[in-house]
Amino acid sequence: MDLKKVVCDNIKDIEILKDIDNLYDLLTYTNDTKNGDITLPCFALAKSLRRNPMEIANSIKDGCKEGVFDRVESVNGYLNFYLNRSEVFEVVSKEESKAKASNGKTVFVDFSSLNLAKYMHIGHLSTTVIGSVISNTYEYLGYDVKRLNYVGDYGTPFGKMIAAIKHWGDESEIEVKGVDYIQDLYVKFNVEAESDEALMDEAREWFVKIEDKDPEALRIYDKIIKVSIEEARRLCDILDIKFDSWIGEAYYNDKLDPVVNELEESGLLETSQGAKIVDLEAHDLGVCMIKKSDGASLYATRDLATVVDRYDRYKFDLGLYVTSVQQKLHFARWFKVIELMGKPYANNLKHITYGTYSLPTGKIGSRFGKQALVKDMIDIATDRAREIVSTRGSKVDNIEELSREIGIGAVKFGVLKTERIKDCVFDLESSLNFDGETSPYLQYTHARCSSIIDKASGLKAETNKDDITADDTWELIKHVNDFDRMVESSAAEYEPCYISRYLLTLCSLFNKFYNNHRIIDNDIVSIARLELVKSVREKLAAGLKLLGISAPNAM
Ligand code: ARG
Repeated sequence: MDLKKVVCDNIKDIEILKDIDNLYDLLTYTNDTKNGDITLPCFALAKSLRRNPMEIANSIKDGCKEGVFDRVESVNGYLNFYLNRSEVFEVVSKEESKAKASNGKTVFVDFSSLNLAKYMHIGHLSTTVIGSVISNTYEYLGYDVKRLNYVGDYGTPFGKMIAAIKHWGDESEIEVKGVDYIQDLYVKFNVEAESDEALMDEAREWFVKIEDKDPEALRIYDKIIKVSIEEARRLCDILDIKFDSWIGEAYYNDKLDPVVNELEESGLLETSQGAKIVDLEAHDLGVCMIKKSDGASLYATRDLATVVDRYDRYKFDLGLYVTSVQQKLHFARWFKVIELMGKPYANNLKHITYGTYSLPTGKIGSRFGKQALVKDMIDIATDRAREIVSTRGSKVDNIEELSREIGIGAVKFGVLKTERIKDCVFDLESSLNFDGETSPYLQYTHARCSSIIDKASGLKAETNKDDITADDTWELIKHVNDFDRMVESSAAEYEPCYISRYLLTLCSLFNKFYNNHRIIDNDIVSIARLELVKSVREKLAAGLKLLGISAPNAM
């Protein structure tokens, strides 16, 4: 329920306000219920109405009808509206948070996009988790969302892998032993290459062969890509993160000519020391290299070709790229090239950055081994969650599933709880603290709501009108009602932590309410309070869903 609209609709016909067309925008939410729920700063009207703010406030106040307002107070030029709590609750308790109807807009989110030569490790979590939450958020708001995993399946790492397989491995083992096998060989290659320069030349040669579509190189390369994608998919499945496309960089590598020609024709392309570049000096961005002197393409060249293709496919209204802040210059450069090319979508591309996600002891955490692989983090968090749940005496019969839900939630929440640009740390113990600002706390509160609702079913129920009008209860109701407004700001600023914070506040307001008021008293249920519990549970479930964290009914 849009509380500003409620106020606006109820006062807009008052004589003095008849010609004010930005009334809705002038109304503001208060920070403190003591000053009403919505306030109108009347000095903003003083000039156009040619009256002083106090007079304006008083004459609006005199025109207010009873009913929707509990009372209206004029204080120092502000007009504070106190809404009728039971009436608002009547409406709020019936509202459900559902994805909005299609708004006809399309957004693509390019996220995860990991380089397939590597295992999915802690460094890949931020883009994967943040990207999926932003996708969910836009979907909720009615956008058609394309989730794109632009995997890094191109470049010398694959030449290295083939060289390594040729030296120390066996091609036929790739599909049998999977990603572990090529990973080990890759590591070995990098170690050996330090003392044997010829190896790097071999790797480069194999990479050129891949590019030239040499049958043997291509055959081995395809096998490497296949097992690597399978592993990445498996992990994304575990994380319950889905994609619409896994088209990676390699796909675009033989589709670069049109964009390069277009740059040439528009006169943007220059030759500098044999290389093809776009000079961005005038924009303080240096140069954007398009082709190296040996004719090889670059990361930026592929991004240019990719976005042109994506526009052909999706006619997107917004394109989001979720990567670490280290790639800032890369995106700034090729976004500028797109702008200089006069593409209609140039202003609708956004680079969404984030800080580092690491383990407490720095980048390398002893407890997790050297690389802090995502699968290990999940396993360890799940094991610890199982211990905690058992110690707490949980009676659920699906302890295994529950522990996994808690473990995965904690790993994800580590990235989501603070502003994305801040560096964050995954600390196992604190992230699993049921009483802290954590995902288990959110999940536990959800389960608690469910158990209250269960307990109440079948009991006698009645309602006393004042059951939900206490200040603490009203704060909770207003917060419940704020869900959609919060999702909108989260989307507008690409900031998942607004959702996490909203949910943490929801839980703390709920727990205050729960401690101060009886929902079931002497086997009699307060209908209104129970309705509120249901609304809280509903918002918790909807918010956790946006975060991609499960909402168990019992813990
Ligand atoms: N594969 C790249 C990396 O791991 C990220 C790709 C991001 N997406 C893009 N369209 N450039 O650094």
